[in-house]
Order: sequence, then C-alpha cells, then structure tokens
Amino acid sequence: MALVTTKEMFKRAYEGGYSIGAFNVDNLETFQAVIEAAHAKKSPVIIAITENVIKYFGITYLRKIVEAAVEETGVEVALHLDHGKSIEICKYCCDNGFTSVMIDASAYDFEENIRITKEVVEYAHARGVVVESELGAIAGIEDGEVTGDKYGVFTHPEQAKEFVERTGIDSLAIAVGTAHGAYKFKPGTTPYLRFDIIEEIAKLIPGLPLVLHGSSMVPQDRIEMINKFGGEMPAAIGIPGNLLRDASKLAVCKINQGSDLRVAFTSEIRKIFVEQPREYEIRKYTAPAKKVVREMIEDRLDNVFMSSGHAVEGK
Ligand code: CO
Ligand code: CO
Repeated sequence: MALVTTKEMFKRAYEGGYSIGAFNVDNLETFQAVIEAAHAKKSPVIIAITENVIKYFGITYLRKIVEAAVEETGVEVALHLDHGKSIEICKYCCDNGFTSVMIDASAYDFEENIRITKEVVEYAHARGVVVESELGAIAGIEDGEVTGDKYGVFTHPEQAKEFVERTGIDSLAIAVGTAHGAYKFKPGTTPYLRFDIIEEIAKLIPGLPLVLHGSSMVPQDRIEMINKFGGEMPAAIGIPGNLLRDASKLAVCKINQGSDLRVAFTSEIRKIFVEQPREYEIRKYTAPAKKVVREMIEDRLDNVFMSSGHAVEGK
C-alpha cells in the first residue's frame, strides 16, 4: 500500500456503511499511535494536520514521517490538511506530499466560499489531490441561535447541493450538531446529531462523502484523571460514540477526532508526573501515553468507525 487519497477509502466506506477516522496528531508519539492502531486493526486511516502543526513539525518532516509509516507498516493512509484557511496553504500542501486538503472558507459568504473553494479544487485536482470544504457553522454550534426554518444554523441541504455542484469538491464538512474542542455541550443537556439533515443531504447528493468535524467523545475517565492529577478540565463533554456509529452507517465517511488524543495523552503524563515525581526520562512517560492513545484508537476503529479489517492489503 502507499500514501493514498481518500477517494477509494471513502467509496468503500460509503458503500460498506462505515467511516474513516481522521485523527489530529500533535507530535511524533500521537502520529505513531494512530499508525500503529490502524496497522493492528487493518484499517484505513487519515492523518489530519493543521497549519499550526505544519509550523511545529516542518512540512518535510511530516511528509517523510508518513512515508516512513507506509514503508514500515504498509498502512493505508491519507495525509490531510485540516482547516486550511487560505488558498496559499492548500496549494503549499498539494505541492508537498499531502494527498488531501480541506479549504475552510466557511467564514465567508456563500458566493465567496464557492469562489475560493473552486480555485483550490482546480489546483488540487490537477495534482491528484482531493478536496474537502465546509458549509455551515460548526465551531461553537451549541451557542448558535436556531432561527428561521427547520435547518436553523445547520447545513441547508439545497444549499449543499448547489455548493457541491458548483465547486466540484470531493467531500463536504457539514454542521449537524457537533462542535470543536472538549466542551461541546453544556452540562445537563443531551448531545444530539441532526440525522434528518444527514439523510436529506445524502438523498439530494447521492454518493457524496460527508464529514463530521468536532467529533471527539471526550472520555470521562480521562477527564477525571486529568482533574485528579492537578489538571483543570471541568465539565468537558463530548459526543457519544453511538451517535457517531449511527452516522457512520449513513453517508458520513470521515469523522474527525483531535481533542480525544490530547486528553488521553495528557491524562497519562499527568498521572505519571504525580505518581513518579523522580522520573525524568522522556520515554518513560511518552511511551505509556502513546500506548493509551493507541488503545483508544483501536477501540474506536472497531466500535465507532467500524473500519477495522477494511484496509486494502498492506504488509
Ligand atoms: Co474541524
Ligand atoms: Co458512512
């Protein structure tokens, strides 16, 4: 196998009723945790990289690391730019080994979002790179005022259809109830997803892979561990796995999780720092933290994305 685009993996996920996990990695350990989990579970996987992470690693390091992952494990992996905020950063990634880019021009009005997205699509497709774009307000959705028609602040299906047709994108990030960060829902409220909108979009645009952002589950045992060992993450609430699993059976082909990796990694390190105050050898705390992330992802590949066993034959 090799570094691939998401085209084939999405096609199989769409038809097979599962989804592909897109995991935000922040360092080499979380990068390896994702690759090792995907390898162990024979699952396709997406490595999601933000602009800040590109600055942190350096783009050449990123490309070489993912190449090393493929060479070592044969894992079926896509290297994806998460939330590219400009045409320039998307082009830069297309030119430097990324197989997928997200242009996020959702802050602009509809026409400007189309214009920017279209320019990225033309550049990317000419280089064999696929494009995801966003329509609707995902960030901070829990504070959004639901006004007007039944779609409120969420992605409007008719608008989504026009957007896809005019831009030629390969996948669409939709707003249906998820939110970025570790504090998605207010305490006491019941997390939900607008499955009716997902189904309407799927009916209007058959075959189009849909993407859920802000879909960390925020494991409460890990939040408790952080708070127990000196951290402060009060009332962090995520999206329940069963909602993500149900979405995976539908047209949702890519589900993004970032906060969960950070929470898992951080909680384990906090525990070790408190319980073993004399430990200063770096691997003595990064290795257990990496293992916790890996195990969490393996569980998700089996039980939430249901992508285990669906990788194209690797090593
Ligand atoms: Co996002
Ligand atoms: Co699906």
